[in-house]
Amino acid sequence: MARAAQVREMFGRIVPRYDVVNRLMTGGQDVGWRRVAAQAARPEGGVALDIATGTADLAFDLLRLGARRVVAADFCVPMLSAAQRKLPVSEPRGIQLMAADALALPYADATFDCVTSGFLLRNVVDLPLCLREMHRVLRPGGRAVSLDLTPIPAGPLAPLAGFYFHRVVPLLGRLVSGDGAAYRYLPSSLAGFPTADCLTDLFREVGFGQVTYRRFGFGAIAIHVATKNE
Ligand SMILES: C[S@@+](CC[C@H](N)C(=O)[O-])C[C@H]1O[C@@H](n2cnc3c(N)ncnc32)[C@H](O)[C@@H]1O
Repeated sequence: MARAAQVREMFGRIVPRYDVVNRLMTGGQDVGWRRVAAQAARPEGGVALDIATGTADLAFDLLRLGARRVVAADFCVPMLSAAQRKLPVSEPRGIQLMAADALALPYADATFDCVTSGFLLRNVVDLPLCLREMHRVLRPGGRAVSLDLTPIPAGPLAPLAGFYFHRVVPLLGRLVSGDGAAYRYLPSSLAGFPTADCLTDLFREVGFGQVTYRRFGFGAIAIHVATKNE
């Protein structure tokens, strides 16, 4: 099976316990990281796109922070179904769920005031193409925000992080979701993924102007904020 299809199938398998495992794996910190990412996108009054929305937590944050409308897109239909089930108990209006591939977004150029992605970039088979698509659908002056795992710089925390991601995460995933393989994929998806500085350069190479990032979670998480030139 091609890698993209494998990724889609794997996320489809872990949907039932996806949110619970996220909370357990991060000690609940993922909630705050998504909120910071949503704030960084400056969604107030605008039309936002959340790519790879999964169960739509980041899309809900964008709406809560004042986005006029949020398009929440993912290429995994079971994830979108789980997101759909959350709509009535949260904000039923304002979020439009759509099946879409991050590498071929079905939107015209400059459609969105901001574009976000949470834990997407490690998963795509063509990272520069994904960044180009984010840039293309964003209006000039708009912000693209990526929240994702990032390689930890060498230092005392690196072995600890390695132990956590390679041992603890797969064990938690197996115990809670029954799918150890999916959670072994998580650390392996970080192998070969650019460092936070290199990802900054990639954002610039596809045409973004100012690009900054901040680390969270003992350095294991980065939120990149990239602005499209006016
Ligand atoms: C780790 S989950 C993140 C979900 C959500 N953004 C969050 O913050 O929890 C990764 C998501 O990316 C989606 N995904 C991976 N590759 C994609 C692609 N090429 N196009 C659209 N969605 C993709 C998967 O289906 C999955 O829902």
